[in-house]
Amino acid sequence: MLGNYGILSRVRTVRGCLARRSVRAIDTCAQVEPAGASAHAAACETAAQRAVRCRLCAASDASADRVEERSLVPRSRSHARLRRKATMSHVFSCVQQAFIDLPSKMPIMDEVQNVTLFSARTVFYPLVLAASGLWLLHYWQRQSRMYKMGNKIPGPMTLPIFGNAHLALGVRPDQIVELGLQYTEKYGSVIRAWLGSRLFVFLTDPRDVEVILNSQVHIDKASDYQFFKPWLGEGLLISSGEKWRSHRKMIAPTFHINILKSFVDVFNKNSRKVVDKMRSEIGKTFDVHDHMSEVTVDILLETAMGIDRNTQDGSGFDYAMAVMKMCDIVHQRHYKFWLRFDFMFKLSPFFKLQTKLLNIIHGLTNKVIKSKKEIYLKNKAKGIIPPTLEDLLSTPESKDDVINTQTFADAVFKGYRDDLDLNDENDIGAKKRLAFLDLMIESAQTGVNNISDEEIKEEVDTIMFEGHDTTAAGSSFVLCLLGVHQDIQAKVYDELYEIFGDSDRPATFADTLQMKYLERVIFETLRMYPPVPGIARKLKEDVQIATNNYVLPAGSTIVITIFKIHRHPQYYKNPDVFDPDNFLPENTQGRHYYSFIPFSAGPRSCVGRKYALLKLKILLSTVLRDYRVVSAVPEEQFQLRADIILKRADGFRLRLEPRERRPSNTA
Ligand code: HEM
Repeated sequence: MLGNYGILSRVRTVRGCLARRSVRAIDTCAQVEPAGASAHAAACETAAQRAVRCRLCAASDASADRVEERSLVPRSRSHARLRRKATMSHVFSCVQQAFIDLPSKMPIMDEVQNVTLFSARTVFYPLVLAASGLWLLHYWQRQSRMYKMGNKIPGPMTLPIFGNAHLALGVRPDQIVELGLQYTEKYGSVIRAWLGSRLFVFLTDPRDVEVILNSQVHIDKASDYQFFKPWLGEGLLISSGEKWRSHRKMIAPTFHINILKSFVDVFNKNSRKVVDKMRSEIGKTFDVHDHMSEVTVDILLETAMGIDRNTQDGSGFDYAMAVMKMCDIVHQRHYKFWLRFDFMFKLSPFFKLQTKLLNIIHGLTNKVIKSKKEIYLKNKAKGIIPPTLEDLLSTPESKDDVINTQTFADAVFKGYRDDLDLNDENDIGAKKRLAFLDLMIESAQTGVNNISDEEIKEEVDTIMFEGHDTTAAGSSFVLCLLGVHQDIQAKVYDELYEIFGDSDRPATFADTLQMKYLERVIFETLRMYPPVPGIARKLKEDVQIATNNYVLPAGSTIVITIFKIHRHPQYYKNPDVFDPDNFLPENTQGRHYYSFIPFSAGPRSCVGRKYALLKLKILLSTVLRDYRVVSAVPEEQFQLRADIILKRADGFRLRLEPRERRPSNTA
């Protein structure tokens, strides 16, 4: 190593001499290096003379001759410039040659002849260059404003360059939740972490979270959402700026409460279907998530997409499985830092799998859009247009329902009233509301909302993903928790018995408003096991938060750890105990609204919040009216896995028993 360094320093000295091409330079060189000066100077001289000779065009080198030719006949300015250029390039190649000749010309090189110059140049220089580059990067990082501000926040020890990236090494997806929890225990409610030069700040205090989520400025998603791009394109979940704003304005009203009411029949029909299908599982231990996932896809296709069941071909299950695996890939890209680089990802086996899965996912969405468009055009030719809100409201069933826009959960969510609430309250002038895909297709055909076919596809993919996996996980967790807490299940059933008696009739919208205890069970499940356990934003400006008045620098990535916020001991007395009474009005009253944000909050909250709650009530009540669910696995043994959507790594295992339709106190 040191031997190589000796070569390097001498080579540098000689190069200096050649560049100057003068005897004075050779003297300087000898001063710099007194030991072995004469030998060194001789070598320098040889090389320098060669360069001088070249300059005078005494060399036999053909290019040198050309240089001389030009220098003898300076015809014009541009000619002179050309000559200068050619001379320089000649001198440069000459210097290079002299360099290559050095080992044979410098006696000192004899000592290290067995060390080839090849290895010195091809291995050592790049190493030195890389090391210098890394050092510069490290130096630049330490000097940056972000680094100085970020390091005022507590967090785990960092390594130069890599920051905390090493902490994810060897960690399995099912260990991430546990690891995250350990760090929050250790460092408190605001934690910083570095991924190279990227600053991440994890927030778990509702007061801090409100500052970010309630803002109209910090609405851009973190760059980590880009891994969704091949799948969801620029759909509502990841888009930003004007595109997000205009699409949100168009899509949010398609989840208007009156449109949701028109979905009640579809929710009932599909819930009944899955209950019948699950009959074959009676007495066995099975994974209820498979059933919840399939029925959720079917419901979405029929409601939001308006695809009739008869035109579906059972591809819902394949789609659901493909979505699950895609989530796993996106998640792996989040925490395995080498997979963050596209070129590395493309070399990994995940890329091939992703291509296959996206074929299944996009295959279904393309089919849905194509079929819907054909129906739309056929109907249009016949003069039939899709039902509008007015049509929906004029159906006899809707008229019978009291149009109560103050629906469920208002006490819980009123702290962050969003555009969904505003849409429901201000219906004046909203003459024409269509269900999601109908509206999109009509907009594209008429050019009203200026939306392209590609954008429709992106939004359909987004709604299909956001609307399916979240609710499938949510309903599966509810059933598993009721399987564990039999006393709570008995109370849920008693409430259902009060509403339905022993009848088989489907639920109405009005019934769902009576399901107060079931609603609290759903909320408590979403509190302890939020399907979206964390979200992330990129800060556009510096933000001061409540905790220690920390200032979070612009450009940093803020991770809002919903899972941890929901278990904050300051807001929930026994945060790790499943207790639906946490959502009794008297208990929600004084609590910080941002201590319960399963649907996020603020301008970028979930557009499907009301849809999800209505669907969950109808689906779960239908299942529980027919079956008693039993879990052999106690809650503390649930193994959680947060691959984008929170799930049980050990599967949502349950057993079903046929339900005897009578209240629990008569059992
Ligand atoms: C229990 C069920 C659900 C939960 C827990 C949930 C949760 C969330 C959360 C936390 C976000 C914010 C994501 C972020 O900021 O990164 C979100 C956004 C979103 N959700 Fe949901 N969601 C659910 C159901 C649904 C349903 C049923 C739909 C549609 C049918 C839906 C559509 C969306 C869309 C489109 C967004 C993006 C909104 C925007 O950025 O403007 N979600 N959801």
